[in-house]
Amino acid sequence: MDNSRPIGIFDSGYGGLTIFKSIAAMMPQYDYIYLGDNARAPYGNRSFETVHEYTLQCVEWFFEMGCPLVILACNTASAKALRTIQQQDLPGIDASKRVLGVIRPSAEVIGNYTVSRSIGVLGTRGTVNSGSYEIEINKFFPDVRVYSKSCPMWVPIIENGEYASAGADYFVERYLHELMTEAPEIDTILLACTHYPLLIDKIRKYLPDHVKIVAQGEIVADSLSAYLIKHAEMAARLTNGRSMRFYTTDDTVDFDHHGTAFFGRQVRSEMVHLK
Ligand code: DGL
Repeated sequence: MDNSRPIGIFDSGYGGLTIFKSIAAMMPQYDYIYLGDNARAPYGNRSFETVHEYTLQCVEWFFEMGCPLVILACNTASAKALRTIQQQDLPGIDASKRVLGVIRPSAEVIGNYTVSRSIGVLGTRGTVNSGSYEIEINKFFPDVRVYSKSCPMWVPIIENGEYASAGADYFVERYLHELMTEAPEIDTILLACTHYPLLIDKIRKYLPDHVKIVAQGEIVADSLSAYLIKHAEMAARLTNGRSMRFYTTDDTVDFDHHGTAFFGRQVRSEMVHLK
């Protein structure tokens, strides 16, 4: 254990690396720890109770590692566990620590992209069934209609390294066709799953040219940067060692292989056993 006080970045697996990539590019000065709970991923189809239990266990691990601030860079965990952790768990663990998610930052800005006032939100079943995006987007943009679509085959396709294959086209076209048939007026699509940026070329291919595709990495990085300016006391608690450490609850060889594709540069991880 060292004396660093890093920002913790959490995901069920590799997907959060697409968010981490944007955060590290914007704020390279801080120390970071990334944890992927690959041994129990994907979270997308799991119950509220299970996602909360797993996410809380990981958050407590980040706290033990010295993180004053943890970002749930996972839509499913943000949808199903964040509120309970913030409101029920944190006060009993350490009220001075903070856990933030990816849904609110996305909801705060997504209404600025649409002219037709109709947005498509693509996510896992867990994220879509939680209804979190409709609720949060309509708090900031009450006039925007939100059409959510779960894409349950996309995470397995990506996790199996098939995102560039011809086989992936079938499921990308199918879900997008279903969504755009239901609501042809959609002019903005939010990729509300941290894995989906890896399919962006295929998603582009099956959407009309005028439809904007919005990924979350830069949105979450912008929001975190604004948060740390507003909360200078939190920024002051973080250490500025420019380090990045990667941990997984499963096989490191597999994590490093996939993680490098998600992160865009070499990833070397260590395995962690959660107690
Ligand atoms: N990281 C998850 C998300 O953003 C997708 C992977 C999973 O289902 O665990 O929703």
